[in-house]
Amino acid sequence: MNRRHFLATASAAALLPLPSLAARDTHRLKAEAVTQQILPDGDGATSMLGFNGSMPGPELRVRRGERVNIAVENGLDEGTAVHWHGIRLENQMDGVPMLTQELIEPTEAKTYSFIPPDEGTYWYHSHHISHEQVARGMMGPLIVEDETPPDVDHDITVLMSDWQMQEDGTLSDEFTDMHNVAHGGYMGNFARAFLSQDQVKTGDRVRLRLINAATNRIFPVAISGAVGSLVALDGMALVEPRSMEDLVLAPAQRADLIVDITGPVGFDMMTRQGLYRLADLAVSGANADRQAEPIMALSPPNLPTPADPTQHLTLTMMGGAMGGRHDGDNIWAFNNVSDLQDDPFGSFQNGETVRITFANDTAFPHGIHLHGHHFYEFDENGDLGDLRDTTLVNAGESRDVICVFDNPGRWLLHCHMLSHAVGGMRTWVQVA
Ligand code: C2O
Ligand code: CU
Repeated sequence: MNRRHFLATASAAALLPLPSLAARDTHRLKAEAVTQQILPDGDGATSMLGFNGSMPGPELRVRRGERVNIAVENGLDEGTAVHWHGIRLENQMDGVPMLTQELIEPTEAKTYSFIPPDEGTYWYHSHHISHEQVARGMMGPLIVEDETPPDVDHDITVLMSDWQMQEDGTLSDEFTDMHNVAHGGYMGNFARAFLSQDQVKTGDRVRLRLINAATNRIFPVAISGAVGSLVALDGMALVEPRSMEDLVLAPAQRADLIVDITGPVGFDMMTRQGLYRLADLAVSGANADRQAEPIMALSPPNLPTPADPTQHLTLTMMGGAMGGRHDGDNIWAFNNVSDLQDDPFGSFQNGETVRITFANDTAFPHGIHLHGHHFYEFDENGDLGDLRDTTLVNAGESRDVICVFDNPGRWLLHCHMLSHAVGGMRTWVQVA
């Protein structure tokens, strides 16, 4: 393969369509080894993990307020568990080994059953040795369809990730390389996006659902050939559509855009060396009924309004290279504590409003994810800002969030740079 395909230079990735499963079925997801053409055609195929024979796994489309049953069968030669990232579901369905369930052992199965309370763009991924199983491909989109969808011609999922590849398509397996763990994490030298559809017309109005499924890479995204607005983050509709410029997705974050197509569409990652092509969306023909109306906001999310917080906690991120804190494999910590301990970071009454300061006292950015809830970020005026399930906190910065803990159970709180999570940057909270 030609070196120009690798990161630090531009590349053109071929399209690999996402398979999809219809709403209302009992879904079946079989975790198994797959072979996938990740590098452009003509270069070597890659041995990976996936679901139902594909990587990414099939796009699951479900309905808000309707029970979903998903039978996960384990066809791997190691244990696994699947987490439904961003869904405010019942705790025992959250897919976190040791905290909410036993591992699904090889040849065994577990049926996850939940009622998604919110519309929007979510995803599922392995939550067992996830820095490795997700890096090998165990993830896919999870879409909760809108009761009243926006008036668009197409609804296209754009799932992006990166891989550390050799030129013959072999995936490097240095997932726990300590140097990587202590720095930005296991990062790919090849990145691309998978689209659920590969063609549109000029003048079409399209909803784009961007998902960062990479284990550690932050994607600053630039989209050409389309003009429009950002309408949702982490599944939750924004109050007002906003500019789609300067879009940055930390690992696990999602962004929904509604755009009008002006020409061939390119999805690029912005790098120091320039634009790096993740995917192309071809145009063929023109849409005669192109829409004149401005892009509208999606239906607003239906979450409880925060009260005055009864607790204000601080979670300080520590460790890593240049962080001067080393304790065996526990390279990272929150408040000097690495990994899950018997005591939770916080204990809350059901319904309690809590303010948390996420303080980044390290030399690296971290994307902090809370399970089972969304929280409000504060905007620059100190007012309630966006609802998120994962918030990016840059090195040396801090971010305050406010959360109504209204979902009983034991919930993980961790860095979604999965190398950092395995390096100790994870804790949990208890909601009684
Ligand atoms: Cu995307 Cu702990 O999860
Ligand atoms: Cu981190």
